[in-house]
Amino acid sequence: MLARQVAPRGQLRAAARMISAWAKVPQGPPAILGITEAFKADSNPKKINLGVGAYRDDQGKPYVLPSVRQAEKSLVDEALDKEYAGITGVPSFVKGAVELAYGPDSPVIKEGRVAATQTISGTGALRIGGAFIQRWFPGQKKVYIPTPSWANHAAVFKDSGLEVGTYRYYNKDTIGLDFEGLIEDLAKMPKGSMVMLHACAHNPTGVDPTFEQWRAISDAVKKAEHTVFFDMAYQGFASGSVDKDAFAVRHFIEEGHRPLLAQSFAKNMGLYGERAGAFSVVTESAEEKARVDSQIKILVRPLYSNPPIHGARIVSKILTDPALNKQWLGEVKEMADRIIRMRALLKENLEKLGSKKDWSHITSQIGMFAYTGLNAEQMKVLAEEHSVYATKDGRISVAGITSGNVERLAQAIYAVTG
Ligand SMILES: Cc1ncc(COP(=O)(O)O)c(C=O)c1O
Repeated sequence: MLARQVAPRGQLRAAARMISAWAKVPQGPPAILGITEAFKADSNPKKINLGVGAYRDDQGKPYVLPSVRQAEKSLVDEALDKEYAGITGVPSFVKGAVELAYGPDSPVIKEGRVAATQTISGTGALRIGGAFIQRWFPGQKKVYIPTPSWANHAAVFKDSGLEVGTYRYYNKDTIGLDFEGLIEDLAKMPKGSMVMLHACAHNPTGVDPTFEQWRAISDAVKKAEHTVFFDMAYQGFASGSVDKDAFAVRHFIEEGHRPLLAQSFAKNMGLYGERAGAFSVVTESAEEKARVDSQIKILVRPLYSNPPIHGARIVSKILTDPALNKQWLGEVKEMADRIIRMRALLKENLEKLGSKKDWSHITSQIGMFAYTGLNAEQMKVLAEEHSVYATKDGRISVAGITSGNVERLAQAIYAVTG
């Protein structure tokens, strides 16, 4: 009797295969990588990829900084063990990162008021920051980001359980900063809000406030009793000077703000895949710092236990060895200078071709990206007819421009803009 009710083995296996736990998982939209795929599929030998957010040398090749190679060699020679770091990472890395951002003589460091942890690069720093805000920020569980902002900001904060609000930042008519809109929006937010600011080299627009405007932003933030969360993914990479690029962060601290900060060594040390970053919080006292530190550890532990050590050791070596540090500062400047040169060359070539448009924003913007002001339709023609690939918002990665392709790029942009 019983034997007849039991299905034969083969049938059971077939039934199990039919019901997948993930049958109802919907297809997500394609990621930004769509550009890379279209670029790869294009057979034009003169194609240009301006979609990637990574530095390229003047041959268009990925670049490993000589100081990084040197630091790696010394690390191999030291034959260090591969034991776990603590929850907050490699201590000398965290110390070096914080000193680089705030300045080695910063009173907030001297007074022991900076709570900090190593993170999985800049994205991880934002994510830990998001989790910290979600759990402990006494105000609204909401972060205000600029319009536009790095595409991942909203996703990171939403996944941290936060609401995302926006403030005006970019004025598409001037292809510059909407300073009045920004100040107005800071005043309109509920008192004591959490505001995310790009510390330098705003992504995607390349439009940064001037020092004077930063001072006014600091005053407006103070008046509204907001807290700021700086995202500094490009320190040194924007102007070529790590101190100049840290102006906003340091000015806010001088003015008595107590910001949160996400740092990345992906761009300024070219350590993209090593995932070396830091999250820090300026607190009121050493006692408060200890409490905040303890809560950061409680957040990190169940997420990934502790961070990877190799990239952090490279950064630490470069930041603590005086000769290597000097060499690195020179290399950061070289990268920034090449980008600045390519901006100038692109503008020059457009003007040489007879373009009557004002391209001054190409050189006044800063950092890896330029917001060209081209619309989605023009970007489509650029890709389909000229094999020039970039995001449809008109953002181009200046790092992808070389002395070898800049002329052709200018011709393509001229052809679509007239
Ligand atoms: C504004 C901004 N923040 C953060 C990041 C995070 O980079 P990563 O996680 O590679 O350090 C990026 C990278 O493109 C960025 O542009």
